[in-house]
Amino acid sequence: MTDAATATPARTARKRTVLMCRPEYFTVSYRINPWMHPEDPTDTSLAVRQWDVLYRTYLDLGFEVHLIDPIAGLPDMVYAANGGFVIDNIAYGASFTYPERQPEGPAYMDWFREAGFDVRVPEEINEGEGDFLLVNGMILAGTGFRTASNSHEEIARIYGREVVSLNLINPSFYHLDTAVAVLDDTNIAYLPSAFDEASLATLRRLFPDAVIVTEEDAAVLGLNSFSDGYNIVIASRAKDFERQLRERGYNPIGVDLSELLLGGGGVKCCTLELRR
Ligand code: ARG
Repeated sequence: MTDAATATPARTARKRTVLMCRPEYFTVSYRINPWMHPEDPTDTSLAVRQWDVLYRTYLDLGFEVHLIDPIAGLPDMVYAANGGFVIDNIAYGASFTYPERQPEGPAYMDWFREAGFDVRVPEEINEGEGDFLLVNGMILAGTGFRTASNSHEEIARIYGREVVSLNLINPSFYHLDTAVAVLDDTNIAYLPSAFDEASLATLRRLFPDAVIVTEEDAAVLGLNSFSDGYNIVIASRAKDFERQLRERGYNPIGVDLSELLLGGGGVKCCTLELRR
């Protein structure tokens, strides 16, 4: 007889449809998060090669990968997760906090329109899937550094879904997708120290079985990962996270995006899920 509490559950992969942006103009020329050091050199061709491995990994997993054309002068456009939030065929556009990234909002909305999504132009500041994560049919919504809390109300009105607001308190984990990883339809992994006490209580109540990651793994943006329910593409340096995922019956796949980490982003930041 198997002990239900210790048995590894069978995981099911569901092929994803995602939007990505090749980092042809990637560099670090301004500083809007603590990871960015404009005085240090970056290697755009290395960024493209590393990004290409991620792109190919998704293709190998059978994902449908769409590409948006990069725009010169928008070095952060590679972080497609921030370009909007797309579920129920509705694309809620992004409205960026910092002027350096503001032109990305309309660029992504044009792409969504062309692709046939019902685009909602945002009234409130928000950075898309960087701060909005779908799990268990509800939307986890981050605030504190980028996305404004009144956008949480806006998104609740648009989708008619439950929205759970979470307060981020560590500037290194300035987007929700740097502090929470969605593992499958019902469970997450997170870094407790990234949240205030109230939000932590909420996370503990909603996800009693969550994976808790180490500070070391979070510090290489290990949580910034993308799952299809079984395969989870993670930062190859996040070793303990990898071990925990394997123990739980997932299949972690490590990729090295060290160059894109210089801009403060990882796997998930480069990935926007499109849900019809
Ligand atoms: N340099 C970008 C910024 O600070 C990185 C964005 C990372 N994206 C993410 N989804 N966490 O806005």
